[in-house]
Amino acid sequence: MLPAYIPNSMAAVFGGGRPIDGGRVMKDGRRILGDGKTYRGLFAGIACGVLLGLLQTVLLIPVSELLNISLPSFSGSGSPTMVVLLSLASGSLFGDMFKSFFKRRLGMQRGASLPLVDQLDFVLGAWIFTYLSCTGWFIMNFTRNVMIAVLVISPLLHLTTNVIGYLIGVKKEPW
Ligand code: CTP
Ligand code: MG
Repeated sequence: MLPAYIPNSMAAVFGGGRPIDGGRVMKDGRRILGDGKTYRGLFAGIACGVLLGLLQTVLLIPVSELLNISLPSFSGSGSPTMVVLLSLASGSLFGDMFKSFFKRRLGMQRGASLPLVDQLDFVLGAWIFTYLSCTGWFIMNFTRNVMIAVLVISPLLHLTTNVIGYLIGVKKEPW
């Protein structure tokens, strides 16, 4: 899940500039996505997710040997590493963007808190993208127990990193 986790944090670090919705509003008078979704955040986030996944790929064998456990890899079942990594990283940020679209439709301002949805949007986005593009790889790696563990760990990890992001000043809200 690391290539799906890191894009969110890196979007907060590198984001800013031109919003993806170009400042446009919908018929309801509210922004399509809002100023919190920018091109820079999207592309920097995806790039960082893919780079982290490539680093994990390079470290796979040495770390497996060091810890004496078998770790999963980002390829297999006919899926190339790059497709898996791009799906995890872009799915994460598209999930986040999809959520922002609905937050705006509900009349929620940028940054308003939507508990659990804010903490799981990127997980669901990453899973849906990866399931669609790399079905065999997804089924092989995301077994039921792994999915349960991810659903429990992700919100806690997300809240922790967001508090850190808030304290160091890259996030406006601690959620
Ligand atoms: N960010 C970005 N581009 C993205 C995603 C995030 O630039 N595609 C940056 C923005 O600076 C954003 C910050 O990361 O403010 C935190 O992201 P998030 O919490 O998802 O956005 P919010 O500002 O809370 O907006 P929303 O209410 O739409 O979730
Ligand atoms: Mg937010």
